[in-house]
Amino acid sequence: MAEAAKLELEGKVYEIPVIVGTEQEKGLDISRLKATTDYITVDPGYANTGSCLSAITYIDGEKGILRYRGYDIAELCEKSTFMEVCYLLIYGELPTPEQYTKFKDKVLRHSLIHEDMKSFFTSYPGHAHPMAILSAMVCSLSVYHPELLAPDPSPEEMDETITRLLSKVRVLAAFAYKRSVGEAFVYTRPKLDYLSNFLHMMFTTPMEQYETDEVIRKALDVLFILHADHEQNCSTSTVRMVGSSKANLFASISAGICALWGPLHGGANQAVIEMLEAIAADGGNYKKYIDKAKDKNDPFKLMGFGHRIYKNYDPRARIIKKYCDDVLGKLGIHDPILEIAKGLEEVALTDPYFIERKLYPNVDFYSGILYRAMNIPTNMFTVMFALGRLPGWIAHWKEMIEEPGMRIARPRQIYTGAPLRKFIPFNQRGTYAEP
Ligand code: ACO
Repeated sequence: MAEAAKLELEGKVYEIPVIVGTEQEKGLDISRLKATTDYITVDPGYANTGSCLSAITYIDGEKGILRYRGYDIAELCEKSTFMEVCYLLIYGELPTPEQYTKFKDKVLRHSLIHEDMKSFFTSYPGHAHPMAILSAMVCSLSVYHPELLAPDPSPEEMDETITRLLSKVRVLAAFAYKRSVGEAFVYTRPKLDYLSNFLHMMFTTPMEQYETDEVIRKALDVLFILHADHEQNCSTSTVRMVGSSKANLFASISAGICALWGPLHGGANQAVIEMLEAIAADGGNYKKYIDKAKDKNDPFKLMGFGHRIYKNYDPRARIIKKYCDDVLGKLGIHDPILEIAKGLEEVALTDPYFIERKLYPNVDFYSGILYRAMNIPTNMFTVMFALGRLPGWIAHWKEMIEEPGMRIARPRQIYTGAPLRKFIPFNQRGTYAEP
């Protein structure tokens, strides 16, 4: 057991309790700091702030380790399935065969959305970004389930909401895609599994039934497992933040989808492909783009590189890179941007700028190349990420809601604005510069 830390402030010494995690990671418990010292801590971007204790996911960014509920990510990709990982993340254990069948059947049973919702999709312009549609639709789902919106849901109500979301969000995602390409919406088929059903809803048309390609289904399974959770990232923290006000799960997930959309987070997978396409269109001279990324006067960043937590190769990127070679090979696809991506990586990993800053490819660097190979359009990439991340968001929301003594998330600030000043009447305000 680590000793308490000592903090000296204005001549007084305070003891700060130390918290030690399962893997010996250490934190200072400052939850009583304001009450005992009248000081707060300041940490923009929360790089040093642990917002909660969590038993869901463990990351060691220095060693490149990622585990869900104690299971190594590489082993889960090899031996498990996304459906099983959903159960593991949300309920804490791998399901028994009986639990798995019950869970799977329940998810399948909820795979219809209210027919009225179809008209929501058609009200969007055809060019609408599917992340905007997905976020709005997930929040809209709540209005069809008023019985599930209680601020303190029972375990049964929670399970109902969870299975509905797991099932329906992929339907909403597929419908958003169908809307964007102007095709008819396609319903799930009871005989298909979770992912085959998603591919079927995406790619079946009235003219042609989509038959599941096992190589694609397996690659999607692995991608979704890799995306399923990543502890207190921006979108998961958003889900927790919104949920901490006791907003319902639909609203919390909808907010998480918006947070994921940004190019510094899940939106990077779209940005990576756009960057690789731009490099290809510019003659494939990727070294020029490495120089741009290093130039502090140039806003260009190497998208899909760098990570707040990983100061080593992101274990997810390692697995996806291997899958890229494998899947593209099996599908007989030669994608020139895969070569550009590999070239960028090779140059970056031997460049002092990237070495000193410990910048490695992250999960988004190669994932888009796989999605392209599956015929998923670029503006759907972040939606795919959201589908994968859904069980992680749910697991964190559930963990938080079930915690005894849960409090609303409400950070503080140090105010740096004007001191108290007198109100200036409207007709006397002539001396300000135009904003
Ligand atoms: N290209 C060039 N330089 C970079 C990059 C990059 N992709 N990433 C970080 N750096 C540099 C920064 O400029 C900074 O340099 P400095 O020390 O000279 O000022 C240094 O490396 C540290 O980077 P920070 O921005 O402080 O790192 P932070 O932890 O705040 O940001 C982030 C992490 C947002 C992921 C950043 O690396 C980035 O913007 N990467 C590109 C976007 C991306 O791929 N996002 C997806 C992340 S994975 C996910 O969310 C699913």
